[in-house]
Amino acid sequence: MFDVEKIREEFPILHREVYGKPLVYLDSGATAQKPRTVIETVDRLHRELNANIHRGVHFLSEEATVLYEAARERIASFVGAAAKEEIVFTAGATASLNTVAYAWGDAFVGAGDNILVSEMEHHSNIVPWQMLAERKGAEIRVLPFDEAGALRTDLLPSLVDERTRVVAVTQASNTLGTRPDLRTVVAAAHAVGAVVVGCQGVVHGGVDVRAMDCDFYAFSGHKLYGPTGIGVLYGKRELLERMPPFMGGGDMVDTVTFAKTTYAPVPLKFEAGTANFVGAIGLGEAVKFMQRFDPAEIEAHEETLLRRATERLEGIGGLRIYGTAPGKCAILSFNVEGVHPYDMGMILDKLGIAVRTGQHCAEPVMDHYGTTGMCRASFALYNTLAEADALAAGVERAVKMLRN
Ligand code: ALA
Repeated sequence: MFDVEKIREEFPILHREVYGKPLVYLDSGATAQKPRTVIETVDRLHRELNANIHRGVHFLSEEATVLYEAARERIASFVGAAAKEEIVFTAGATASLNTVAYAWGDAFVGAGDNILVSEMEHHSNIVPWQMLAERKGAEIRVLPFDEAGALRTDLLPSLVDERTRVVAVTQASNTLGTRPDLRTVVAAAHAVGAVVVGCQGVVHGGVDVRAMDCDFYAFSGHKLYGPTGIGVLYGKRELLERMPPFMGGGDMVDTVTFAKTTYAPVPLKFEAGTANFVGAIGLGEAVKFMQRFDPAEIEAHEETLLRRATERLEGIGGLRIYGTAPGKCAILSFNVEGVHPYDMGMILDKLGIAVRTGQHCAEPVMDHYGTTGMCRASFALYNTLAEADALAAGVERAVKMLRN
């Protein structure tokens, strides 16, 4: 049974006050808070289990290695990967996307090829592809979204062709909340032999990479109630095997001589250097926490919060919500006529309400709507209806203050 008050008890930070007011944390899109099990796991690793993985025969190293690989296994099953070897640990979604852009891109994208990205992408799923296009003389194409924030997948046939090598589309827009239909994207991309790189929807109802049939998928641990500085790159095994390594160093090799170096099998050939094993094991713990719930229950709860906040905000004169596509996730970006988003954010902050303001690392989305910034409330499984109401009341109060 999904009991939000019980869940909140597991998140120590939610009980603190800011400016003498209870914290209303509505910025989980930027980073989610951590349950006690994750915090305690990370603490215990440093206290009792700290030893470098894959490198020693001693007890602690073996123990840490076993936990690291168990975390990989758990994450593989959580996202529906065929095997744990399809899970590469990285520093975050950005590092995962850059890995594909450099390693896959440098090997398989050439002059005259094209890369399709959606207009709603976060900068981390735009800039690495632009850098690749510049290195290779390839073309960037853009799949637009409509006024509601729905992706124009109907335009896919006119935007992909036999020179399309990569199609990069998020599974959940961090600004609009839109959840594009990745299966349609995958079908169009595969029809012309392109690979699909999906990202970041895993916290919003989960992901099944095999059912979706995407080729690569990137996500960050810190948005999934896990530690910061750890992320995942999923790749189909056969593609990871064909993809050359991106970074060289320890642990990613088989043998090293000055004449020739051979590489470790996947996924280790992509994990050069001392891995963030504390983060990876912590992320495994976060996934374990998530696995206690039915993803549909989390989704239903977040949808209730989104609906309530939307209804209340829609009643405020001059308020515009950006992103109203059907089936969107619990992200609510808005502006109020005549009110600068930073001013709104600062007043909400003084009321104890944490929202994000600015461009949300998605400048093309701002350009689409002709604005320089937005306020964004993002809901997570630990938020309550009372917090949705507090947001609306806070916005009303801010509007009164700023308009007078
Ligand atoms: N990408 C994060 C956000 O959407 C930081 O806020």
